[in-house]
Amino acid sequence: MSENHGKVTVVGAGFYGSTTAMRLAEYDVFETVVLTDIVDGKPEGIALDMNQSAPVEGFTTKVIGQTTGPDGSGYEAIAGSEVVVVTAGLPRKPGMSRMDLLETNAKIVRGVAGEVARHAPDAVVIVVSNPLDEMTALAQLATGFPKSRVLGQAGMLDTARFTYFVAEELGVPHTSVSCLTLGSHGDTMVPVPSRCEVDGKPLTELLSAAKIEELVARTRGGGAEVVALLKTGSAYYAPSAAAARMARAVIEDAGIPLPVCAWVDGEYGIDGVYLGVVAEIGAGGVRAVTEVPLTDGELAALRAAAETVRAKQADIASL
Ligand code: LAC
Repeated sequence: MSENHGKVTVVGAGFYGSTTAMRLAEYDVFETVVLTDIVDGKPEGIALDMNQSAPVEGFTTKVIGQTTGPDGSGYEAIAGSEVVVVTAGLPRKPGMSRMDLLETNAKIVRGVAGEVARHAPDAVVIVVSNPLDEMTALAQLATGFPKSRVLGQAGMLDTARFTYFVAEELGVPHTSVSCLTLGSHGDTMVPVPSRCEVDGKPLTELLSAAKIEELVARTRGGGAEVVALLKTGSAYYAPSAAAARMARAVIEDAGIPLPVCAWVDGEYGIDGVYLGVVAEIGAGGVRAVTEVPLTDGELAALRAAAETVRAKQADIASL
């Protein structure tokens, strides 16, 4: 008998959404993964395909695909979800910034959030649509959910990219590297070299300031680098890994500290804004924001990021 439990919904069956759903099914911890999309038959087809991989991979999670209509039809399939991952929205094209997606994706995310509030009123919502910090804030507004129950995925991805670049540079396994990025999932991303260690040694003792700055810049442009190579669509393997891990932390009530986009209210001397920070993630979403020690420069960068994001988040209420 399966000990799997819980229901997670992934809204949007593009590459990001479908890869997230596949990872969630392969974890084999959920009872049900629901995948929805507005393209008729697409989520049903993907779910069927995924379920047919179960005998090979050995997972017992059931994947359910559901097309949703502009009138909200089909959304009843998400009822009772403990977690909803919102991937709906357009990805970037080469040369676009995440902010160029603001108006289009705001309409999409607002619509999805309304349906989530209606059909899965107790869910923890994990937003991945871009621009990430703004879409997370919008999802909270549009669901009316407590801020602790709406969070965004970005810090885990940006941290993973930074970790990968550092490991590659030093020629060490990524398991030796412990890194962190905070701030926005955009131009004001704040990679935090002072919190980075390689086999317990500070990164700042292993690489020159110039080299670290180069890796920081590459991390900040990590998404754009993939977009430029793909030419159509944006990254999804690393992003989906991060989103799926967050959903897993919720269903397992893990209480582990993860870099996420969370509501910050007082921590780091920053008031009332969605921002990339380290937070303990459990069954109710964000249990607490954890303040990590930062250098004066890093703290100033985090506060500057908060003000930039705050200005944009103020605009979204009208979108
Ligand atoms: C990225 C997109 C998903 O960073 O924001 O790849």
